[in-house]
Amino acid sequence: MQVFGIDIGGSGIKGAPVDIGTGRLLTERYRIPTPQPATPAAMITTAAEVVAYFAWQGPVGCGFPAVVKGGIVHTAANIDASWIGQDLRQGLSDAIGQSVQVVNDADAAGMAEIRWGAGRDVDGVVLMVTLGTGIGTALFVKGQLVPNTELGHIKIRGKEAEKRAADRVREQKKLTWKEYAARVDEYLDEIERLLWPDLIIIGGGVSSDADKFFPRLSTRAKVVPAQMLNNAGIAGAALAAVAEQAVPAEPPVATTTAEEGRVPTEAQDGSV
Ligand code: BGC
Repeated sequence: MQVFGIDIGGSGIKGAPVDIGTGRLLTERYRIPTPQPATPAAMITTAAEVVAYFAWQGPVGCGFPAVVKGGIVHTAANIDASWIGQDLRQGLSDAIGQSVQVVNDADAAGMAEIRWGAGRDVDGVVLMVTLGTGIGTALFVKGQLVPNTELGHIKIRGKEAEKRAADRVREQKKLTWKEYAARVDEYLDEIERLLWPDLIIIGGGVSSDADKFFPRLSTRAKVVPAQMLNNAGIAGAALAAVAEQAVPAEPPVATTTAEEGRVPTEAQDGSV
């Protein structure tokens, strides 16, 4: 099955058709710089241009750099504040002329790594961290996504982590790899103090420079670079479009009464 994936980021909007069986892009991706100011109308028009470039007809999934719930954008760290409250799913579907599914960009990248990349067949708690314009996170428990974690915004030395350790900060401040590694390490230490993941996957453009700073990281958990490099966002966005259709609706969970005073058996082993 082929699905079009769009990865909307703070600096670029890129897309390509994806083979959902393998996670491979079927052609080279097409990228347009994110318009500034990154307003809803400008970004939606640009995303539609990326799809039109391929004359694509068919399902479309999109990753977006904000909290996205039920198609609605709820935060705006690296995009225009006017995005808050906007219906991204409806806006994109109207502009593209197809039904579009939308998810957080780091969640999309994480889903791709869990399905096809560095998180494949890994049990336990896996955290994907994307270092780019901001810091995005995707948390998986036994392969199941906990959507919209925003751990790039925890405070380190009184400042948001993404303002200290995003790849954009490395570029802007012209940090050496040693200096940058120290910042990422401090960030991951704090994350580990709070979450205790079993595996950390680092994505974003820097994942291709892993050899320059990974050896300096001192995390307890194993840290690995994303295997799909910069294509995880596009492939995972495409996956989001099928996941909604493929995953059958869960039957309602049996609720317990105070009298019963126990949880249903299925939940006792911690399964999710
Ligand atoms: C946003 C996240 C996003 C991340 C990476 C952060 O500033 O709050 O939603 O995943 O940047 O784009």
